[in-house]
Amino acid sequence: MPHIQPKTTPIYQTSVFAFDDLNALEQYFEQPGQSYMYTRYGNPNTDELAQQVNQLEQGAGAVVTSSGMSAILAAVLAVCKAGDHVLCAEEIYGGSSALLSQELTRIGIRVDFVPTADTYSLANYVQPETQLFLVETMSNPLLQVFDVQRLAQETKREGILLVIDNTFATPVLTKPLALGADMVIHSVTKYLSGHSDVTAGVVVCKEQEHLQRVQKVMMVYGLNLSPFDGWLAARGLKTLRLRMKQHSSNALVLANFLQQHPKVEKVWYPGLEEHAQHALAKQQGQGLFGGMMSFKIVDDTEAVNRFMRALPTIPFAPSLAGVNTSISYPLGSSHRSLTPEQQQKMSITAGVIRLSVGIEEPEELVAELEAGLAAV
Ligand SMILES: Cc1ncc(COP(=O)(O)O)c(C=O)c1O
Repeated sequence: MPHIQPKTTPIYQTSVFAFDDLNALEQYFEQPGQSYMYTRYGNPNTDELAQQVNQLEQGAGAVVTSSGMSAILAAVLAVCKAGDHVLCAEEIYGGSSALLSQELTRIGIRVDFVPTADTYSLANYVQPETQLFLVETMSNPLLQVFDVQRLAQETKREGILLVIDNTFATPVLTKPLALGADMVIHSVTKYLSGHSDVTAGVVVCKEQEHLQRVQKVMMVYGLNLSPFDGWLAARGLKTLRLRMKQHSSNALVLANFLQQHPKVEKVWYPGLEEHAQHALAKQQGQGLFGGMMSFKIVDDTEAVNRFMRALPTIPFAPSLAGVNTSISYPLGSSHRSLTPEQQQKMSITAGVIRLSVGIEEPEELVAELEAGLAAV
């Protein structure tokens, strides 16, 4: 075999690794990280992804998982057992709230949702069994921006951990661990991989103790990511910085366009000066505001249908953060599992459309939205 030095990491598409002899097996256990045994426990492709995300988030280490949902599951199970209690921000991805309120409650982990107004004063919500508070840097879908430093002060005062879902902001905008958070999770499916071709997640920890627990939960529950998906995500991650700049500048153009459009009733984008946390978003996001926004047309599902059908190329695809722009409909997808009262309370009504702004030329995107809105 010739000496090969590939420029990029090859895909180690194998479920298991061979050992020379029993000494090599002993070495595997005695010197962790020096060799591989079984892909569910570790693989060069998923390790590469974990190391790169960890570097960006400035953690003590990261564990990659099969999805953003399994990353949240691993973070919670790493520190909670039956009888424990968790707090979760009320404005959060519907899947996260469903995991906590509909599934983890079945195995004895209780949850309370904290209204946005009370996010920085948790005393009335914390119980002796409370272990952590889960919050998104920028909430899905209405882009409420949370002050991670203030959150960390509050969780420290209450003696609980702060777990931040940094999916919308990405470490290019905000590094929650540096601001005092204890764990960061991502749906790698979104900006970190960036091309809408992978489902993956990651947990980044500040403390070794938590890292080891997350690692164990990932291995024992079988929440691992496949080598190929790890490879795809690691490839996408290489352009994260470039993409976030273009997502952000395009989104600002579109937010300004939508805001002045007569058929648009409201725009939620932290880059707009009218946004309630604009100053915080600017400071916490290094001047970038990300590529996600929501806007509201008339509360009429037929008007939404006409808008969707009239968009020349932008697809209605209930995910986000790909290089191509897409729209989504929170009421019918991400926040479908909430009760009508919860949806109403969160202002997720029939006319709310979520826009994931891609990296195309901004003029093309304005023309697309103009065509869509003309049909409303
Ligand atoms: C903010 C946020 N967190 C977590 C998830 C779950 O991630 P995944 O779909 O990769 O499991 C999503 C999915 O949309 C999300 O938007």
